[in-house]
Amino acid sequence: MKSIVILISGRGSNMESLLHGAASGSLPVHVAAVISNRPLAKGLETATTMGIPTHVIDHTKFDSREGFDAAVAEVIDSFSPDLVVLAGFMRILSDSFVRRFQGRMINIHPSLLPSFPGLHTHRRALEEGVRVHGCTVHFVTPALDHGPIIVQAVVPVVDGDDEASLAKRVLAQEHQIYPMAVRWFAEGRLRLLDERVELNAVQDGSGVLISPSVH
Ligand code: GAR
Repeated sequence: MKSIVILISGRGSNMESLLHGAASGSLPVHVAAVISNRPLAKGLETATTMGIPTHVIDHTKFDSREGFDAAVAEVIDSFSPDLVVLAGFMRILSDSFVRRFQGRMINIHPSLLPSFPGLHTHRRALEEGVRVHGCTVHFVTPALDHGPIIVQAVVPVVDGDDEASLAKRVLAQEHQIYPMAVRWFAEGRLRLLDERVELNAVQDGSGVLISPSVH
């Protein structure tokens, strides 16, 4: 069975969806550890409750990004995971860190990339007046919130939406597509080949999910 390490910074709801999948057997992975850069991340409690080893590497204790990244890489490597899963890990990663895990590190982002990289994605989507919004799972490359796209889920933007209602609708889809992408990787259906995603998915073959229902 493939093993994964999950990196978080806060609430950890995406991490939780992965832990539930692993615990129920629907996600055939061993979660070796959860690592947080914030000592008070709520997700740490959740992971501990679910019996997963946790590690805190507090970025404020490091003088440089490279020093912090090296410490994180050392802890990750101690578990020899097949896949590193960024789940709301809100740190910009150094090029050397990204290269070290290239092809075996994925991220989820709350927008339809390449639209709205960075922060406040839901607010910006509302400001731009887009009619559809969503989330993206992608392999991590040195450019922030870029990288070969694995799967996206699309939700409508409806009249009366505010940041919170839109965030909630998108998050429900994040909890669907992230376990799906991790499962594809675990089953050997997904890999990065020459900067392109090679996906032998069971879904619709395109790797794109359209989720028109409003939750
Ligand atoms: C999620 O919405 C995730 O897509 C986003 O942070 C949130 C974490 O929530 N990630 C990014 O913005 C990365 N650029 P969670 O801690 O409840 O999973």
